[in-house]
Amino acid sequence: MSVQVPRGLGIERIAVAGVLALTVITIFFALRAAHGSGPVYKPADPTVAAAKPDPATVAHRQGRELFTECAVCHGKKAEGDKKQNAPALSLQEDWYIVRQLQKFKEGVRGTDPKDIGGVQMQPRAMALADADMQVVADYIVSLADGGVQPPPRTVDGDAGRGKALFAICAACHGMDGSGNPVLNAPSLTGQHDWYLVAQLMNFRTGLRGAHPKDITGAAMVPMALALGDPQAVNDVAAYIVTLPITRPQAAPDAAATAVEAASTPPPATVAPPPEPELDAELVAQGKTLFQTKICFTCHQIDPKVPSPAGTALKAPGFIGQFWGIEREVQVGINGPVEKVVMNEEYFMESVEKPMAKIVKGAVPGMAPLPTTLDERKALMAYVKSLSAEP
Ligand code: HEC
Ligand code: HEC
Ligand code: HEC
Repeated sequence: MSVQVPRGLGIERIAVAGVLALTVITIFFALRAAHGSGPVYKPADPTVAAAKPDPATVAHRQGRELFTECAVCHGKKAEGDKKQNAPALSLQEDWYIVRQLQKFKEGVRGTDPKDIGGVQMQPRAMALADADMQVVADYIVSLADGGVQPPPRTVDGDAGRGKALFAICAACHGMDGSGNPVLNAPSLTGQHDWYLVAQLMNFRTGLRGAHPKDITGAAMVPMALALGDPQAVNDVAAYIVTLPITRPQAAPDAAATAVEAASTPPPATVAPPPEPELDAELVAQGKTLFQTKICFTCHQIDPKVPSPAGTALKAPGFIGQFWGIEREVQVGINGPVEKVVMNEEYFMESVEKPMAKIVKGAVPGMAPLPTTLDERKALMAYVKSLSAEP
């Protein structure tokens, strides 16, 4: 199987990266604005302050203590250790570390006996109290301050070939591999090549990302499969380790809020669904959801505003007349080709089970974003309203 890799010119790639960065920044400020300007800061009473230790210092000390156990496998500076199968953690953002710890603890990752690395890690997360996860993650993030060394190369791969393959990965992990919290994609830079290969193989064989509760991991499965032969896995890893080490600069609360927006379903509305099908209010709700559920990052709705992740995945745009129009889809990844009409049933299925039918020629990369039935109805009303009349 071969992958269609967009052979972008340098300029195109830079433009795509720029737009992606702008998107993230825009979301960050939009969410910031939505959350207000934060708590009002009151100067502390100096007499009281002198008596109480700084809570940040306490948490840091607590984190250091918790980390002594992790350091046995992950290394003192969280630089990773091949002998223990343990990856570098030092360049990850806190949201990703906490999310993976939760996955291990809940048995969503690392329970299959064939998953040698995962099985080593899983009981460690079981032993961590939920409240300690953030504390240890914050401590790990602080370790990178001293500078991180690029890991040695251990994998035999063609970085040049890997670079072309990485165009698909860049849609979510960024051109520089520094990750994108809005798309739940972790940083890949500074990671050991043997660990990148091991995880890509885990995604391919179903050891990772196949658990029904692993919503963010599921997005990676088709990507790892799209690489094709195992040599391509080595090639892409060989390229990733050539990327300059970047410490993502996004403010921690931006990451946290963005992830929250992408994964937490808003509280259910009590109001009964409105009667008319294209009710203006429902369309307006859908328009907001199209932003908060990050549909806009892949589906272009304005010919003048590109959707960077969608370009690499060849996600269809919602432009011109598309409602009621026939398209060819594959039933399941690499399944038989069928014709379907864009209608309510197909729309609902596309959002709920994106891998059930895959638009022919597109990368099966649509994330199964959690949505409620009411949200899907609102999204549908909005998307339908974008279609031109026949
Ligand atoms: C016995 C060795 C061992 C110990 C102790 C250990 N880990 Fe791990 N950890 C691993 C291994 C091995 C993996 C790779 C799992 C895999 O292959 O899927 C891992 C993976 C992880 C990951 C996922 C990283 C990623 O990029 O997806 C996180 C986060 C993590 N460990 C955090 C911790 C923390 C925090 C502690 C201490 C509380 C800890 N680990 C203790 C061995 C260990
Ligand atoms: C549609 C978005 C998307 C695309 C495209 C994508 N990824 Fe990912 N990737 C993710 C997400 C989300 C995760 C985190 C999965 C999880 O939460 O367990 C991830 C995780 C990973 C991991 C595991 C990192 C770790 O620390 O354990 C590797 C390695 C990886 N991706 C490599 C790639 C490569 C190589 C490509 C291109 C062939 C690629 N990804 C394309 C979304 C994507
Ligand atoms: C990470 C990129 C990505 C995100 C985010 C995303 N999609 Fe998609 N979507 C795709 C890709 C790629 C396809 C084509 C492959 C397929 O059919 O699965 C697709 C297909 C679709 C289709 C079928 C389109 C057609 O023309 O046949 C619909 C409908 C759809 N998406 C709706 C949504 C909605 C609504 C959201 C937000 C909740 C969303 N998508 C979020 C990438 C994405």
